[in-house]
Amino acid sequence: MLFPGRCIDSHGHCTIAEEFTRNERAEVMKVAVIGANGQLGQDVTAAFRAAEHEVAALTHSEIEISSPESVQRVLGGLRPDLVVNTAAFHNVDKCESEADPAFRVNSLGARYLAQSARELQAKLVHISTDYVFDGRKRSPYLESDSPHPLNVYGNSKLAGEFFVMNGTPRHFVVRVSGIYGRHLCRAKGSPNFVETMLARGAKGEMIRMVDDQFVTPTPTAEIAQQVAALAATEEYGLYHATSEGSCSWYEFTRTIFELAGMNVDVHPIKSGDSGRAAIRPAYSVLENAALKSKSMNLFRHWRVGLENYLIERAQTQPQA
Ligand SMILES: NC(=O)c1ccc[n+]([C@@H]2O[C@H](COP(=O)([O-])OP(=O)(O)OC[C@H]3O[C@@H](n4cnc5c(N)ncnc54)[C@H](OP(=O)(O)O)[C@@H]3O)[C@@H](O)[C@H]2O)c1
Repeated sequence: MLFPGRCIDSHGHCTIAEEFTRNERAEVMKVAVIGANGQLGQDVTAAFRAAEHEVAALTHSEIEISSPESVQRVLGGLRPDLVVNTAAFHNVDKCESEADPAFRVNSLGARYLAQSARELQAKLVHISTDYVFDGRKRSPYLESDSPHPLNVYGNSKLAGEFFVMNGTPRHFVVRVSGIYGRHLCRAKGSPNFVETMLARGAKGEMIRMVDDQFVTPTPTAEIAQQVAALAATEEYGLYHATSEGSCSWYEFTRTIFELAGMNVDVHPIKSGDSGRAAIRPAYSVLENAALKSKSMNLFRHWRVGLENYLIERAQTQPQA
């Protein structure tokens, strides 16, 4: 778990002094990414490495955020300049029946990370969710709007936000929405929404999709770029960080097939017919108001993000 290049070089010389000189000159940060083998965590790790920061990519087997001892031992050993927490208990339906672990990870885990970051004088990026809102607003939510979660997951994430915002001054709380990326979402144990739809479409399935829930699908690669750019600043605070525009899950599904050139039957249904355990907000579109007010918004329209995802996917998939 040591940061690459830390301590001893191939001649046995201690390189710490050189490392700190380099940090000062090029503003290289020592970054601890938590949930580093997750869907978002892998892209976040790649974004910080591409920006030539030193990254400790921490998986669940290396740190347990719901244990204060584990957090203190691991982060205390690494002494990072920046902690990025992408870990969560975020299977939304499972959270309804397993509220204890949801709060242990999403709320108390965030608290332990904030306490540790404060002690270490490290910055903390904490990933949160659009599900802190109830969806009654019907126009994009601003950071200044009052949250009112409808389900256990949203409540546990909101409590986590409060612990971070009140626990350490050097925080970035970053709310994301409808995320999909090249890597597997570990909590769902399945490919992302786009891949799932493409696979079902390829099998010739007829697809029923809710047309009364509006979100902004956002590629994890864009979130990772935004997080890396934001974390390099001292503009601490609460941020909405999603692609531009919005759509229903039904419209998103139809657009996936349109852009992939596939002719698939997609039928609109109401969320009451979806048979899921947790109530979801009917409208959880976020406005990146704080990023825009500081001229830091890097996101493109969700349709452009999807086009790029499908192009990159076609370039990396083996040809039939
Ligand atoms: N998916 C969405 O549409 C969506 C929407 C809004 C917000 N978010 C937020 O986005 C973030 C990232 O989601 P994702 O899709 O990248 O999730 P993911 O693929 O499930 O990755 C989560 C990572 O966190 C690790 N982890 C889970 N519990 C942990 C714990 N107690 N201690 C340490 N590590 C732990 C997981 O390891 P194991 O798998 O080995 O346990 C995994 O590596 C989460 O904060 C989520 O709340 C997601």
